[in-house]
Amino acid sequence: MNITERVDQLVRPDILTLKPYVSKIYPNVVKLDANENPFAWPTGMKEELFGWSGEGGQGFEFNRYPDGEARALKQALSQYTETAEDNLLTGNGSDELIQLLLSVFGGPKRTLLIHPPTFVMYEAAARVTGTEVERVPLLGGVNLDVEEMLRASENPAVSVIILCSPNNPTGSLFAQEDILRIVRESGKIVVVDEAYAEFSEASVKREINRYPNLLVMRTFSKAFGLAGLRLGYLIGQAGTISLLNRARQPFNVNAFSQKAGVVALRYLEGYREQIRIIQAETKKMASDLGKLPGLRVFPTAANFILFQPEDADAWAEALLAKGFLVRNLGEIPVLGKSLRVSVGKPEENRAFLKAVREIAGGGVQA
Ligand SMILES: Cc1ncc(COP(=O)(O)O)c(C=O)c1O
Repeated sequence: MNITERVDQLVRPDILTLKPYVSKIYPNVVKLDANENPFAWPTGMKEELFGWSGEGGQGFEFNRYPDGEARALKQALSQYTETAEDNLLTGNGSDELIQLLLSVFGGPKRTLLIHPPTFVMYEAAARVTGTEVERVPLLGGVNLDVEEMLRASENPAVSVIILCSPNNPTGSLFAQEDILRIVRESGKIVVVDEAYAEFSEASVKREINRYPNLLVMRTFSKAFGLAGLRLGYLIGQAGTISLLNRARQPFNVNAFSQKAGVVALRYLEGYREQIRIIQAETKKMASDLGKLPGLRVFPTAANFILFQPEDADAWAEALLAKGFLVRNLGEIPVLGKSLRVSVGKPEENRAFLKAVREIAGGGVQA
């Protein structure tokens, strides 16, 4: 046996079948593929953050470890989310938190319940943590099948349910009463991924006081435009948060990102203006796309739109040839081949729509 074969035998078999998540870089395109905030940070924020000397107390000097408890960030977040500091846990993006959640509440012989089509990282984290996955597809690809979710949750192996609202990639927002019914009646850990809550302006965060099994997950990657700094957080009852804290890496959020979160939360007015523009642009773009023949366009409560042309692959290529990068989702459960476009700056959206009209008008070569 050569050394490579030996290494392949040592790795867990379920890891061998995993494909790494690869994010390609396309230079010189209008980037409408990752649901980021297209605007620069609010005026003054970059200067304030980059002008920061690294001083300002323990945990903010770069030759020292960061504050493992992220106290200053939690203080700012507790005001923003109207929760107490011990209701919060911060992470290196929501991606880290999904894995942490499954390493604490999932794992071998346990099952995660999800509602495809939904965010792909839930399945990826399940694989890494050895958690089984059970899937209850969205009705018509967009609506939560509450009865079927509850029925599936009766399986004693199900320990965690993730509901994504607004859902990536469909944009659907689930009714608060449906979410809370699942929280109440399943009795399992229910994580509500609210990555796009600033756009939908809906949240179940106030309900954490009533339900120890409810966790709300948020991120600075979308509305706050900090995707590159990796910052996410969970909101839950103090007891539930403390369970997650046992397995968290002690210094999981670096000092600069902690500071960036604190500074960003001082620029809420600037962000609110950006969010208002993005919301208005989303409405306009969905309505304009919806007027084109041959395109199925899904209603959205987030900053992206799911749509289905007749030949999605050819459309993705034609858009790229015109300089627009959208997410070609391939075959997604229930809905099949679909594309997802993030809403950009107003001038980018105008140009995108012009390109779409040209492609729709001229037909695409498959
Ligand atoms: C629903 C949802 N949750 C979580 C994330 C990941 O967020 P983060 O950048 O904080 O890891 C995304 C990013 O696309 C998302 O769409």
